[in-house]
This record gives sequence, C-alpha cells and structure tokens, in this order.
Amino acid sequence: MRRVEPAAALVGDIAVPGVKGLCQRAAILAAIADGTSEIRGFGHAADTDAALEAVRALGAGVSEPSPGTIRIEGVGMRGLRPPEGPIDCRNAGTVLRLLSGVLAGQEGRFVLTGDESLSSRPHERIAIPLRQMGAEVETTNGSAPVTISGGKLEPITYVLPVASAQVKSAILLAGLFTQGGPTTVVEPVPTRDHTERMLQSLGVRVRRESSGISVWPVESIPPLQIDIPGDFSSAAPFLVGATLLVGSELRLHDVNLNPTRIGFLAVLERMGARTTVFNRRSSGGEPVGDLGIRSAELVATTIESHEVPNVVDELPLFALAASMAHGVSRVRGAEELRAKESDRIATTTEALHGLGAHLEAAPDGFTVRGVPTRFKGGSVETHGDHRIAMLGGIAGVLSREGVEIDDPDCVAVSFPDFFELLDEIARRDFVPEER
Ligand code: S3P
Repeated sequence: MRRVEPAAALVGDIAVPGVKGLCQRAAILAAIADGTSEIRGFGHAADTDAALEAVRALGAGVSEPSPGTIRIEGVGMRGLRPPEGPIDCRNAGTVLRLLSGVLAGQEGRFVLTGDESLSSRPHERIAIPLRQMGAEVETTNGSAPVTISGGKLEPITYVLPVASAQVKSAILLAGLFTQGGPTTVVEPVPTRDHTERMLQSLGVRVRRESSGISVWPVESIPPLQIDIPGDFSSAAPFLVGATLLVGSELRLHDVNLNPTRIGFLAVLERMGARTTVFNRRSSGGEPVGDLGIRSAELVATTIESHEVPNVVDELPLFALAASMAHGVSRVRGAEELRAKESDRIATTTEALHGLGAHLEAAPDGFTVRGVPTRFKGGSVETHGDHRIAMLGGIAGVLSREGVEIDDPDCVAVSFPDFFELLDEIARRDFVPEER
C-alpha cells in the first residue's frame, strides 16, 4: 500500500524511462542481428527486462557494460534456439507478440508464457496471420501459453481486423523470413510505427503507403546502435498533474515525439493545456524533444474511434483529466481497452468512482462529467495494472485528502521510480483549497 498526499503544484525538470516499446523492439532485433548491438538509455522495467531475459534464453549474449547501456551479441537471422523451458514474457504483450513473429521464422519449437494477465489476453490475433504464413502456432484457449514451430514462411497480405501495432509488428517481423516478398499489412487506422522506423533504420526495405505497409525479406540485419529517448506514455501522467495543479511548471527532457504516439498531447491541447516543445531533434529514426507544461483550465472533448490507437495507453489518464475539466467528455470506439493489462474501461471507471469522480462506462469507452475541483480522495485498486497505479498517484496529488494505492509496486512494469519522481516534483507547502 502507498499513500499519495495532495500537492500544490508540480515543479521541476525531469526525465522519464526510455520508450518501453523501443527497448523491447531493439532487444528482439539485436538478438537476430549479425554482431554486437548497443542500446543506450535502456529503460529498465519489468516489461523491458522481460525482453532481455527472453533473448538471453534464446541464445543471444546480453550484458550491461555501464548502467543503462545494453550490449547484445546477435546470433544471426536464424540462430535463435529453443531454451529448455518456456520463455516467460511476464506482463509484456509486446514481447510475446513481437517475439512470436521472429520465432515463426526459426527452426524448432518455442513455448511462450506470461503472468496471469498475459495468459488471459487474446493472442489468436497473432496466431491467425502467422499460421497463414506457414508457421504452426497453438494458443491455449486463445491465450498464452503460445507454442510456435517455425520454418519456411510465405509472404501474405493481411488486413488487420483490429488496429494493433503489436499484431502489425508480429507480421512485419515474420515478413523478414519469407521466401520472396513483400509481406503487407493493411491497417484500419494507423497505429504506432516504431517497428517500421527501426527496420528502415537497419536498411530493411519497407514501403509505407496508405494502402498498406510492406516489408521484404532479408538475409541478415546489421547490429543496432541506438539511443532510446523517454517514453511519452511515462511522461503523460506528469502532463496531466502539471496541467491541473495551478502554478505548476514542468519540463520533461528527451521525450520521444513520434507522431503515432503523442495523440494525447493534441487531446490535452484542444482541452486547453499549455504545452511547448523545445529542442526538436531526431534520434535513431525517431523524433525527440523536450516538453514544457504549465497549469491550465481544461474543457471537455470527445475522442472518436479513429484517434484511439494514438492515445490508447493514455485513455485512463484522459478519464482523469476529463473528470476535472469543464463539461462532458466522451471516448468512443475504444473496446480494445478491455484487452489491455487489465480491462481498462472497468478498472479506470472503478478507480475514479472511488475517488469521487462522475463517469459512466460504455462497452467501447466512457462518458465523464467533469467537475473542475479537486477529487475528494480515497483508495485505488490497481488490479496489477501499472497504468492504473500511476493514475492513482496523479489522482493523489490532485485530491483534497490523498489517495491510497493497494499495489503500488506494479508501476515497475514500465516505470519503477514513478512514485519517487512524483514525490520529488510535488510542492507540498500549502493547504489544499477548492479551485
Ligand atoms: C504496443 C502497442 C499497443 C499498446 C502497448 C504497446 C507496442 O498495443 O497498447 O502498450 O509496443 O506495439 P496494441 O498494438 O495491441 O494496441
């Protein structure tokens, strides 16, 4: 249990852990590269460490010559070998799903498992296209454990039934191993493009058109030399806290600003947030910058289904921000939230109800009646979901009476030092008042 006390403002200069999905993708691609890769700014967390442990179990050499710099000795495109036991992907959907794409192209039989949450999430969504390409894939009641016997793969054109970057990436990665090409994925709505960018930066032939994303097979990939910027999804809780606490002024350094990841920034801006981007640059094929944010009053907005993939991991925080905005906000077309680390429509609604917010769950989102004043406070059950724990932490600084979080340690999935950092930037020399 952890109690987060109210704060007057969030003030300071901070950095957040490296992009989780880039760390995981880099680890997986480095494992099949020819030679030694170096990943700098690796954001250690349970989900990214799961990627390192998985590739180590599969035969890649993994070392950390200095804190945050990971060296991976690749085994070559087809050099991964089944370990004795299953590969434990823990809580990490990205590891299980992307690794499945790569294992579909290897010789041998691989078993992928995970924790209780990962073992109840839907994995047929990757099994179906990988089978079409020629791999043997078995799921357990549609979920993990997933067993893959790889081998010769044929290219396919696959229309994604749900907008999912993980499914897209699994297919594109398997496409590296096909006899001939291209392998094409057609997306109903564009999703995050980290995989495409990373493959392109490694010299893989990738074609990106509105009609689909295509990848051609390769004989080998060169080792990676990559600097990982901060994760926008880990910056997002602080953006909400700083916006809603009068007098806040925060600067977040070295944040990944990939346009397919920062939909929540645009949403906050149209609600009235005051954000600034400084020092725009590019690193490893990804846009990066520093983010400045000051407090502002927010007005309600609606998030429609076409926007959802771009804000998907930030929707619990959107519900929190909307709870303190003027007016009624809505999220539609976000049924995918029910298939995340927890059923995030249910867990977000439950958490915010308990703190005194006014929102209603729908099958595909929620409706939030904003009241521009501090939450009363209370307790939050995380259901083991890191994003709900961070939601509870930010709700705590925005409350009158503080918030208790039942399982604060689950933030370690993506952001082990979240609460310590929040504590460091929280100004507490005040008496909370109604706004
Ligand atoms: C991710 C994609 C998203 C996101 C997840 C990470 C990725 O999932 O929710 O946290 O790294 O590709 P889906 O692609 O299944 O929507």
